[in-house]
Amino acid sequence: MATPIIELENVDKSFGPIDVLHNINLRVHAGEVLCLLGDNGAGKSTLIKTLAGVHKPTSGTVKFDGKPVEFSSPKEAQEMGIATVHQFGGTFPLMSIGRSFFVGVEPTKGWGPFKRYDRKKANEIAVKAVQDFGITRIDDGDRLIGGLSGGERQSLAIARAVHFGARVLILDEPTAALGVKQASHVLRIVLEARKRGLAVIFITHQVMHAMTVGDHFGVLIKGALAADFRKGEKSREEITDLMAGGEALADLGEEVEEYMASHDGHAPPAKH
Ligand SMILES: Nc1ncnc2c1ncn2[C@@H]1O[C@H](COP(=O)(O)OP(=O)(O)OP(=O)(O)O)[C@@H](O)[C@H]1O
Ligand SMILES: [Mg+2]
Repeated sequence: MATPIIELENVDKSFGPIDVLHNINLRVHAGEVLCLLGDNGAGKSTLIKTLAGVHKPTSGTVKFDGKPVEFSSPKEAQEMGIATVHQFGGTFPLMSIGRSFFVGVEPTKGWGPFKRYDRKKANEIAVKAVQDFGITRIDDGDRLIGGLSGGERQSLAIARAVHFGARVLILDEPTAALGVKQASHVLRIVLEARKRGLAVIFITHQVMHAMTVGDHFGVLIKGALAADFRKGEKSREEITDLMAGGEALADLGEEVEEYMASHDGHAPPAKH
């Protein structure tokens, strides 16, 4: 099989005495979506931050294109082609679409027209990039980011990352605050990014979103990779159970059944 774009080998991460990630081994290939699942506090954000140059692993290795890398800043990870899109990160409500598309892009890197900001050209490029992703409702680069829906903002951020040559796209709960229709736009764009050969890491709490786009699933429970499987290997119920902490729920179910069997069908009192 081809070399994975991103590979984690025996990655541990502690913050002082607090161990957050334990011995994580994961690979993500080009043209593949890895869904990272797990309950609140399982370590998902910490894991992607070690890929995005925000945190350094305490031990273990991160490889990019098969070579070990150590990022000393998010910018370094970005320059290698690892783009991270946070829920509302990287966008500014009072900035125009065209302007925000080029924020942080060094004019010296082949962007001749932007040595002095060229509004018309910037708008053209930004609108085209977004429309190429199928978001045809965005047709005016002068519109302010603040006037876009959450889904459109996410889509713009993803289109931007792809336009500037990202090879790895990391999305930390991009659909969490979105309605059904907007979320489906974002999911479609994720599939388009995959089609263009990016490796995508997608964090979500929603099983249906995960099952719609995921090729490969990793489930974190208390900082350890409790399950690592491919599309079709587990049912929706099994995935839901794993996402919610798995065994804890199974145990709870058994406890409740036993109690009810011996208490005339009454549910147990809540535990404090
Ligand atoms: N900088 C830090 N210092 C100390 N502990 C941290 C730090 N960052 C995260 N943690 C701890 O690590 C654990 C995992 O946090 P993380 O944010 O990675 O979880 P998560 O899986 O993204 O959760 P959620 O689904 O709620 O976003 C938590 O217990 C958190 O308190
Ligand atoms: Mg998180």
